[in-house]
Amino acid sequence: MSRLQAPRGTFDVLPEDGRRRIELGRLAAAVLRRAGYEPFETPVFEDTELFARGVGESTDIVQKEMFTFEDKGGRSLTLRPEGTAGVCRAYIEHGMHKLPQPVKVFYEGPFFRHEAPQAGRFRQFSQIGAEAIGSEDPSLDAELILLLAEILREAGVPDARLRLSSLGSLETRTAYLDELKAYLRAHEGELSDEARGRIDQNPLRAFDTDHAGTAAVMGGAPLLLDRLAPEDAEHFAAVRGLLDDAGLAYDLDPTLVRGLDYYTRTVFEFESAQLGAQRGVAGGGRYDKLIEQLGGPPTPGVGFAAGVERILLASGERDTDAAPDVFVAVAKPEKGREAFGLANSLRERGLSVQLEQAGRSVKGQFKHADRLGARNVVIVGDEIEVKDMQSGEQRAVAGADEVAQALA
Ligand code: HAM
Repeated sequence: MSRLQAPRGTFDVLPEDGRRRIELGRLAAAVLRRAGYEPFETPVFEDTELFARGVGESTDIVQKEMFTFEDKGGRSLTLRPEGTAGVCRAYIEHGMHKLPQPVKVFYEGPFFRHEAPQAGRFRQFSQIGAEAIGSEDPSLDAELILLLAEILREAGVPDARLRLSSLGSLETRTAYLDELKAYLRAHEGELSDEARGRIDQNPLRAFDTDHAGTAAVMGGAPLLLDRLAPEDAEHFAAVRGLLDDAGLAYDLDPTLVRGLDYYTRTVFEFESAQLGAQRGVAGGGRYDKLIEQLGGPPTPGVGFAAGVERILLASGERDTDAAPDVFVAVAKPEKGREAFGLANSLRERGLSVQLEQAGRSVKGQFKHADRLGARNVVIVGDEIEVKDMQSGEQRAVAGADEVAQALA
């Protein structure tokens, strides 16, 4: 029979990676909880309409990348391509505007986008995200960026570069896009076919080009940052001031394009040079109109999401230590039951313990303990002995209590 494989663009997490993912989740949760963010979970699939309305009909995500299916009742459902829309849906559904604001949450889990798979780009991937909903205070934008920077630093991403910009309000952005489209049309002849084809749908993408003619045109293009309304410019200046005070370096990048429609005001991305084409390790921004668009009361919000696989790729080979404190060896088959009981009571005392469970010879068991990197081997025979694998020292003990003491 032919062998089955995981679907294209998906992957299995084997133990070495699994350990690193758990560590990353723990460190992110610790960083975020210190700042008052609390765990939050929403379903892996939602009504398709949530993403059409939330992420935006004109985005690549909604147009091309969603895994959408019908349930048995004929309802259109979609595997979530991102987390913010679901969190906002839940905020509205649970009347969370009645809680003290802002509501600060974080999440970790699988997301799905039907993209062409390549290094760092998958069809099922994991994000760690955080959202602060219910206040437009610029300190929340700065706080989230700083927390994200700390997570990346602690996770060992050596060189994350922060790109920062502001999109202003929806009105400013619409007026600006009209201005940009008119500018691009006036220079149509100098643009790449790709940029010309996108003038109506996505003119901002022209900033992101390798084509010399397009790049030359874009060098003279109007910039949204120069068109911000005074209150938006002030908000952005406040965010930058807080980041400056905290000593976090960033590149002001007025051409920063995010792949989701809901952003207003602050937008940002962290990139790592370790990653090649898929440089974005994390991104986010403010979405002050999203909750209203989803049918809730006018409520501002800001957040980020970081790609777990990309963080692990960018932080290189950093294995976490899985070596047990103790390996319990069985000197004679009839001692198996006693060895099992001893291993169990050592685990109850908080030690990490493995034991012989594959019928190896005593010599084979020591070899196996060595391979595992066990710091001690407890040999259960006519008596119980503890061997320190580093010093080679071996001594007899009476039972679990004494083993635990010997190891303390
Ligand atoms: P995003 O920039 O679309 O933002 O995704 C965030 C991160 O998810 C990316 O920086 C990348 O690391 C990872 N990612 C995205 N697509 C893939 C993929 N196909 N394979 C592997 N990793 C991927 C959002 O999703 C927004 N919800 C962020 C946000 C939260 N904005 C406000 N609040």
